[in-house]
Amino acid sequence: MQSTYFMIKPEIVAAGEQQIGAILAMVNRSGFRITRLAMRQLDRALVEDFYGEHRGKPFYDSLVEYITSGPVVCVRLEREDAVAALRELIGATNPAEAATGTVRDLYGTSIGENAVHASANADDAARELGLIFGD
Ligand code: CDP
Ligand code: MG
Repeated sequence: MQSTYFMIKPEIVAAGEQQIGAILAMVNRSGFRITRLAMRQLDRALVEDFYGEHRGKPFYDSLVEYITSGPVVCVRLEREDAVAALRELIGATNPAEAATGTVRDLYGTSIGENAVHASANADDAARELGLIFGD
């Protein structure tokens, strides 16, 4: 069993419970267990740390602005091979390139506003779960 970090981004939370519920249902149907769940407004310092690998890139400032623009849904998920399985379920970073039926294909609007986050690898999952939940 492996843990990973999943996050529903602000534009989806702002759109209301229907989209949050639909996305969590997709996750559940893919065999994940939700072991932590919280709606939170993340502060700038935390988000700068969370996305530290992207500091200095052209999209970094807008990314931090966007993720701090409203509440997000923070989720710890467990499944066999959770990290890779969740990345497959969410699809490519750019919704225009995301495989049909993935979360970003269905709910993303642009490469910036791409609906959800999922940890890229096991080390990132541990780091992100630590930052968000203190696990
Ligand atoms: O989220 P993911 O791991 O798929 O992509 P990333 O390369 O780690 O980028 C993190 C986040 O930055 C993305 O999910 C987008 O929200 C944002 N981003 C962006 O706005 N413009 C880009 N060219 C690349 C990423
Ligand atoms: Mg990433």
